Amino acid sequence: MSLASVSRMEAKLLLPTYERQPILFVRGRGVYLWDSRGKRYLDFLSGIGVNALGHNHPAIQATIKRQASRLIHVSNLFFHEYQAELARLLTQISGLGRAFFCNSGTEAWEGALKLARAFAQMNNRNGHKPKWRILAMENSFHGRTFGALATTGQPKYRAPFAPLMPGVSFVKFNDLDDLRRKFDSSVCAVCIETIQGEGGICPVNREFLELASRLTKQSGALLVLDEIQCGLGRTGRHFAYQHYGVLPDVVTVAKPLACGLPLGAILTTERVARCMHPGLHGTTFGGGPLACAVAIEFLRAERQLLKHVRALGEYFHAALEALDKKHKSIQDVRGAGLMQAVEVDSPDLAKAVAKQLLQEGIIINRTHETVLRFLPPYVIQKKHVDQVVKALDAALRKNEETPNKEASKKERTAPPRRKEAHARA
Ligand SMILES: Cc1ncc(COP(=O)(O)O)c(C=O)c1O
Repeated sequence: MSLASVSRMEAKLLLPTYERQPILFVRGRGVYLWDSRGKRYLDFLSGIGVNALGHNHPAIQATIKRQASRLIHVSNLFFHEYQAELARLLTQISGLGRAFFCNSGTEAWEGALKLARAFAQMNNRNGHKPKWRILAMENSFHGRTFGALATTGQPKYRAPFAPLMPGVSFVKFNDLDDLRRKFDSSVCAVCIETIQGEGGICPVNREFLELASRLTKQSGALLVLDEIQCGLGRTGRHFAYQHYGVLPDVVTVAKPLACGLPLGAILTTERVARCMHPGLHGTTFGGGPLACAVAIEFLRAERQLLKHVRALGEYFHAALEALDKKHKSIQDVRGAGLMQAVEVDSPDLAKAVAKQLLQEGIIINRTHETVLRFLPPYVIQKKHVDQVVKALDAALRKNEETPNKEASKKERTAPPRRKEAHARA
């Protein structure tokens, strides 16, 4: 089927939830994708952090073929060979003792919120009102289901679906005073993306994470981290919190776990897990044999790639910082490992640059209006970084001159420029 006929049919038949680029992808291999016209694209987004081993990785392909011919699904009323082994691997690398498997990021996050409330109910039964308040962060993103929306600190995602789950307050991200002000004995969980992804690749500050850890420990509340985008090797460690030396009570993962098959997980401590019992939570599809077998294979590869991710991440970050020195329009360069971002000074410029790169056969994405986000597969080489940085340099140069200047000027008057803020600091 051609791009024209697919897009015509979709326009008639699907809920209009996506603004797709006019490209029909038909195959992938390694760091490349090919469209229906045979054009090749260097994938520096990897399905928003999913295809961490690139496309059609031979070990993943072989595992899918083998497992699909044996057993694809069995309900959670029975055992299969892979959930226990996958839980063993995940608990080993996370330092947490228990796992629950589901199908997506948002579902993992829902489960984590339920865990926080259930844990509070169990631990405050004796005539006391259970802790119930959840502190979530401004600018965060946790998914599209109701609990996830209720804890997502961006009004554009929340407002159309109000009223949402009660009991959530938002803390200014990385603001120690605001966290101290809003935390009290009614709080059952403090929820943080270790690196905010949709919010523009903004890492949590060490002091802030340490304070959240201290406050939750002292009061018996839970520290719940969302590593759906930044976890599982993306930053060069198994988990982003391992850069900080803070161990959460609960962490959620998903995106790359089964290399494109739907699989998410909640990881937690033995102590927290005690609040669960049969029937309290569950899923039909989550943790099936096909997805779990693939995830075991993914974790084998991920372990081997951590050093490479750190090295390539440093190389990429240094190259982006060099671009920062050349381009006034760059406001900030942020990120860890292969989760990198360049913030520019106008949404128009970010849009134009992403578009031009796509025309040149490089896939990146724009998030939070002005942030160019890079989530390449862990298997990229220096030559791929060089190609992207060179194309970015040219695209910035070209579009800094030409875009809708009036619109850019207007945007610039709103928030303070980060470069200037840094200079003042
Ligand atoms: C940090 C974070 N949490 C949760 C989600 C939701 O995951 P999913 O789209 O698999 O439901 C995302 C998705 O982008 C995410 O980046």
